[in-house]
Amino acid sequence: MTIQEETIAEIRTTNDIVDVVSEYVQLKKQGRNFFGLCPFHNEKTPSFSVTQEKQIFHCFGCGKGGNVITFIMEMEGFNFIEAIQLLARRSGIQLPKSSLQQRKSSSGESQNLLSAYEWLTKLYHHLLRHTKDGEEGYQYIKDRGLTDETIDIFQLGFSPNVKNFTATFLEKKGFHRQLLVKSGILTEKDHQVIDRFQGRVIFPIRNHLGKTVGFGGRMISGEGPKYLNSSENSLFHKGNLLYNFDLARKYIRKQNEVVLFEGYMDVIASYQAGVKNVVATLGTALTIKQARMLRRYVDTVIICFDTDQAGIEGTFKAAKILRKAGCEVKVAQLEDGLDPDSYIVKYGANSFQQKVIEASETFVSFYINYLKGTFNLSLEGDRIKYIEKVTKQLATVKSSIEREYYLRALSKQYDVSMETLLREVEKFQQQRGLQKDKSYQGSYTNNVRKIYQSKKLRPAYHNAERQLIAYMLQDRWITDKVQEELGASFNVDDHKIIATHLYAFYEEGQPADVSLFVERLEEERLKKLVTEIAMIPLVENISEQEIADYMRVIQAETTAVPSIESLKEQQKIAEQQQNPLKAAEIAMQIIELQKELKQLN
Ligand code: UTP
Ligand code: MN
Repeated sequence: MTIQEETIAEIRTTNDIVDVVSEYVQLKKQGRNFFGLCPFHNEKTPSFSVTQEKQIFHCFGCGKGGNVITFIMEMEGFNFIEAIQLLARRSGIQLPKSSLQQRKSSSGESQNLLSAYEWLTKLYHHLLRHTKDGEEGYQYIKDRGLTDETIDIFQLGFSPNVKNFTATFLEKKGFHRQLLVKSGILTEKDHQVIDRFQGRVIFPIRNHLGKTVGFGGRMISGEGPKYLNSSENSLFHKGNLLYNFDLARKYIRKQNEVVLFEGYMDVIASYQAGVKNVVATLGTALTIKQARMLRRYVDTVIICFDTDQAGIEGTFKAAKILRKAGCEVKVAQLEDGLDPDSYIVKYGANSFQQKVIEASETFVSFYINYLKGTFNLSLEGDRIKYIEKVTKQLATVKSSIEREYYLRALSKQYDVSMETLLREVEKFQQQRGLQKDKSYQGSYTNNVRKIYQSKKLRPAYHNAERQLIAYMLQDRWITDKVQEELGASFNVDDHKIIATHLYAFYEEGQPADVSLFVERLEEERLKKLVTEIAMIPLVENISEQEIADYMRVIQAETTAVPSIESLKEQQKIAEQQQNPLKAAEIAMQIIELQKELKQLN
């Protein structure tokens, strides 16, 4: 089973890498390239870059690089065929039937489970919408104010109040009982296998690709916990998923903001009310992983939890984690006793939009109020502690206007002079070390500069080779010229290999297309290096003279007795490539050379 070259080419050209990456990472334009936070390693300042022109990405932090297909493979943990399938679907290209069958890389069990969930989602939804068995659930949801359209969008369903309904249905479809128990679709109780969700309204929980990976089941009568979720399994990790992320993604990107709720119903009610950049945790505390995922897409997260004590504590905890991940946090306030869903039911969509979401307060403002609740402010000792804590927090506020605003309020309210407060703020700032803040501000520009400056650390011939290869990657004519004069006589081994591959690539009649070239390279190491080199900013019309100059520098090095400096460089590369034998050989050479030099002196 193979997919034709032309189809792959079509898939690459119809899936612009900037668009595709933007579905996972917020990109900002810097010069000719786009930059964002790398999705493959943790970072707070962006070193992940994408060029539209060359249709490749490269991370200067972790070194990962490739084209749009590689990106999807890395991002989704897919094999080549799976990545092609996703991209084909994305751009509406029909793949030959035979290519659709092989989906082996995800384990067979996960595949089975996905398929079971897909069947069940459809079945439960159908039952709720169109049958007597599901009427009870339908009525419940309608009473809570959801429209048919919303019910369809979220594929809400009902699991009938019959012990063996689901088991029988799935076994008829050929699924094994053992798998269904293991994955928590069925439950073993008193030596009997029964439906886990019977009699509950079903909220399918979809992953970021829109596939159901678990259920939340809400009780509507009888006993038991209000919500039951699928048990954790290879597909369903509550700490990695966010409810509704797949549908919210495009709105989140557009608005550079996301609203975080606690409950499924909050998400759905809000979405129906037109606020669609909304997600929720799955009944567990927000994890750093979820926070980092959001950070890749947005600068600001608006937390909108219930107004009860648990909700306030939850808000504080979630805010801490989000700020740790680098998000700006805002907090939406609801009237006492209401949760987002009941607020919408009571006051309607407009009021929710304007008086809750748009009116959300800054984290500092929330924190000041939150702290009040943890102290007894009628006691002097508590009051002092409170003022100290608030001041400490204010020391972390970047905007001096905002900082001063709150300090003034504090000064007035507790009769402490502004001078004293400002001195405290300064003290805290010094303790924290200001460097932390500096690296944060203007990070994009600084980082981009840093990235390209790193070349200064390399010897001249090494840079000349990189520059030359960068030109060769985008120009066949220059490549021919280099092939004639230099052949494979590059000094850095990997450059040699890349040049040789590139000669062959052009000889095949391929166009100057880095993205395609990278796809042809098999070794991860070379892919990384080529994408890195391809990111080097180049002058537009380089003269023949300049090309010749680069070649001269390279040739001079080839024929020269190696310098200690260049040997050390080679040694480092050998070590990086985990080639200890070669590194040791070079080390010997260095020692020999050093001896000779000593004797000369
Ligand atoms: P809530 O109790 O706030 O529920 O729990 P809710 O979303 O407002 O639901 P309704 O409006 O009463 O129907 C918030 C989230 O906590 C999890 C669920 O994910 C729920 O959406 N939860 C809650 C459970 O997992 N189990 C429970 O028993 C209760
Ligand atoms: Mn609720």
